[in-house]
Amino acid sequence: MRMTANGREPDQTDLVGQARKLQAMLESAVDAIITIDGKGIITTVNPAAARLFGYPQDAFIGQNVHFLMPEPYHSAHDGYIANYRATGARKIIGIGREVTGRRRDGTTFPMHLAVSEFEMDGRVHFTGIIHDLSSQKATEQALRQAQKMEAMGQLTGGIAHDFNNLLTVIIGNLEMLEAKLSTTGQRELATEALEAADLGARLTARLLAFARRSHLEPEVVNLNDFVLGLTDMLHRTMGSTISLSNALTPRLWMTRIDPSQVESAIVNLAVNARDAMPAGGRLIIETGNVVVDAVMSEDLDGLAPGDYVRLSVADTGEGMPAEVRERAFEPFFTTKEKGRGTGLGLSMIYGFAKQSGGHATIYSETGRGTTVNIYLPRHGAGEAPPVGADMVEPVVPGRTVLVVEDDPRVRRLTVNRLETLSYATLVVADAHEALAILGSGAEVDLVFTDLVMPGGISGYELARRVAAEWPGLPVLLTSGYADELVRRDDDAIAHLKVLSKPYRLADLAQAVAEALET
Ligand SMILES: Nc1ncnc2c1ncn2[C@@H]1O[C@H](COP(=O)(O)OP(=O)(O)OP(=O)(O)O)[C@@H](O)[C@H]1O
Ligand SMILES: [Mg+2]
Repeated sequence: MRMTANGREPDQTDLVGQARKLQAMLESAVDAIITIDGKGIITTVNPAAARLFGYPQDAFIGQNVHFLMPEPYHSAHDGYIANYRATGARKIIGIGREVTGRRRDGTTFPMHLAVSEFEMDGRVHFTGIIHDLSSQKATEQALRQAQKMEAMGQLTGGIAHDFNNLLTVIIGNLEMLEAKLSTTGQRELATEALEAADLGARLTARLLAFARRSHLEPEVVNLNDFVLGLTDMLHRTMGSTISLSNALTPRLWMTRIDPSQVESAIVNLAVNARDAMPAGGRLIIETGNVVVDAVMSEDLDGLAPGDYVRLSVADTGEGMPAEVRERAFEPFFTTKEKGRGTGLGLSMIYGFAKQSGGHATIYSETGRGTTVNIYLPRHGAGEAPPVGADMVEPVVPGRTVLVVEDDPRVRRLTVNRLETLSYATLVVADAHEALAILGSGAEVDLVFTDLVMPGGISGYELARRVAAEWPGLPVLLTSGYADELVRRDDDAIAHLKVLSKPYRLADLAQAVAEALET
């Protein structure tokens, strides 16, 4: 007979009380807790586990726990337990390990798994406590990326600075020498050396731009005038297979920037776009006024909330896979053959935007074109409006919005925001699921969909199907791509509004209310 801590024999009420307490602990735990028997078969799970993996609680029971892990962890896990039972070697038991979990929808996520062992009725059991590491990993990744860019900036900046001094000496002496030379042959040699030194100086200027150490000569300008001024030149450089258009916001705010830097940024972006469209396509330069709030700031690498002018250069070219997109701003990162690209174009733009107090972002996907956005601070803005100044959001009460968005973070945020605005929501990850929900007759007042999604059907196509099958059901599109890129030559959806990412709560409220009222 076991004794309780105070030496009494446990009576029935004690046992029931303890069991209830344990049950309550399991139910309320933030981390997922799963117990398995010696063969890996799940015997209990708590609600946190159900939430984390996306299965109902009873779907776990009787399954081998490895169904929650993708390969190679799946097999490795069986190995850990078998190995431990045979040799007593602890690979996971009592220590804990970082492994990868698999949710019901097939997506994987990093998790910390700590396993303990206990015996009951003569048999071995294991308890696994699982902590979701997704957001921690994402933060670490962002920090690493920022540190990498910072370190590269310092390194390139240092080298470029020294080289600039050397080049100054070389160029200066060559010029003096050139004046003293008597024959044409001698002068040609000096001219060639000078040209090479000039190229070197241009290279270091780009490096300094990335390192945010350019000598900026800012002027107050309206970017619209600027873009218009460049249009002729761009038309000539783009060639006849690329159609160039501008979408310039009237009453664009002024911004204080170095014109030569913006000019080279636009030219660089246009050249990148041309290279990405060997068979022709569209190049669109867009401007807009953007108010960055605290939530948007998170998506913009902590850009200080306030007023910005956004310059977007978009193309319909081949786009970038994730590995390229993530590294595109790094200096010397290029996918172009030797001699074609130095990999400094985008790094220079990034450095320039940062040095000007702004930020630069890339939206791109293979086969879906690319939009690069440059945020530059508004010049002469009054005091930033106090937080909450525009809290009176337009809301059409009692409506349900179907949210279609593949990125889980954006999805969560969108749902939260819609709920803040008192809309009911239905949420799906792609257009197939959206059509299935609509087909099942669910009551939906508005479809709010991302434009670019995996799974074969784009938001654009979804909008077209909705227009065909549920005429009268409004659709609101959202995208990180330039608005103009979103081709709407189809009459059925030509009138649809695109809410461009990132957007403020007030923008969302406005767009949803407008869409519901049309
Ligand atoms: N519009 C675009 N479409 C597709 N890929 C792009 C686009 N812009 C940039 N990239 C990718 O990002 C890489 C880096 O671009 P970046 O402008 O920094 O350097 P680069 O064009 O290769 O060389 P440089 O600009 O110095 O001549 C490119 O090599 C290309 O792979
Ligand atoms: Mg380039």
